[in-house]
Amino acid sequence: MREYNIAAIPADGIGPEVIAAGLQALSVLERRMGTFRLRVQEFPWGSDYYKQHGVMMPADGLDTLKAFDAIYFGAVGAPDVPDHVTLWGLRLPICQGFDQYANVRPTKILPGVTSPLAGVGPGDLDWVIVRENSEGEYAGHGGRAHKGLPEEVATEVAIFTRVGVTRIMRYAFRLAQARPRKFLTVVTKSNAQRFGMVMWDEIAAEVAKEFPDVTWDKMLVDAMTMRMVLKPQSLDTIVATNLHADILSDLAAALAGSLGVAPTGNVDPERRYPSMFEPIHGSAFDIAGKGIANPVATFWTAAQMLEHLGEPDAATRLMAAVERVTAAGVLTPDLGGRATTREVTEAVCDAIHSAN
Ligand code: NAI
Ligand code: MG
Repeated sequence: MREYNIAAIPADGIGPEVIAAGLQALSVLERRMGTFRLRVQEFPWGSDYYKQHGVMMPADGLDTLKAFDAIYFGAVGAPDVPDHVTLWGLRLPICQGFDQYANVRPTKILPGVTSPLAGVGPGDLDWVIVRENSEGEYAGHGGRAHKGLPEEVATEVAIFTRVGVTRIMRYAFRLAQARPRKFLTVVTKSNAQRFGMVMWDEIAAEVAKEFPDVTWDKMLVDAMTMRMVLKPQSLDTIVATNLHADILSDLAAALAGSLGVAPTGNVDPERRYPSMFEPIHGSAFDIAGKGIANPVATFWTAAQMLEHLGEPDAATRLMAAVERVTAAGVLTPDLGGRATTREVTEAVCDAIHSAN
């Protein structure tokens, strides 16, 4: 029997609610398949841990996580702890420390879910956005001088390295090649930003030569927002910088019906370190404890995790179960339904169990 060690970090707000739902579905899946086993260890890190210990995770947290095959992450953020403390104290150190340079965000309209786009249904919108996750506009390069004085100046410098751009471009072309349409859209803003973005375009053209069977085109990010809304059928795999893809993927989640269904994988494609799988949404303290958090994003990201671990059949069974449940109209309030987290989870577990 194949075995995988999973570190679960539910963290804050609705994080523990959706991770519990995800672990329940995974455990039913594992029993139903009988081909693999997940050894799950939970870590109590996050804002409550911070309030007791003054840190979001122990100093040797990354060393502890290194031994695992994957990380299953909920969300961080609490009303009474500053967001830069929670984000830079737990999620970003894991992404950066483990060089998870590919942030992979599949988006599609699930059956039974209504897109805000008129006349657009399942099949019309089926994308994967690849976000550069290690540099670009979020490299943390910059500073402030003359702080508080009238002449104050602040710089926020985007960093693009040949190594960083080449590796994300290769990842995106390879992913596009593995999807039926073999089609990649490379997003930049190379008309206005003449250095980093022009290098990005040049490297795209170089890497494209390694993938002669992949068709690709280029879009400026502003025009891309229109194409996503007006011609969703014309897109498949998309690659963009850290900032651009951050914004485009929130738009994508909204077009697919709700933030509550959007998953993401923070992947180290070289597999030197564990990759981390999480719903895109945050800790949503406005609905925490009410039992109505949508667990679908957390199920979907579990499927991404299984795919990454080399269990594609399990991933397919899990997603098929989720789609059966959404198609049957068992939906949480964010999708216009009346079901609770527990009801959706029970329905998905039943569907996993009963499918052939
Ligand atoms: P959020 O994603 O937590 O919530 C935005 C809106 O979407 C809220 O109205 C929420 O109720 C709804 N929502 C989110 N997930 C849902 C789900 N699964 N089911 C149903 N409704 C859902 O973003 P917000 O409110 O801006 O941030 C709350 C906290 O989360 C902040 O502290 C923020 O820093 C943190 N955050 C953490 C992230 C992470 O851990 N990756 C990502 C985004 C925000
Ligand atoms: Mg975002």
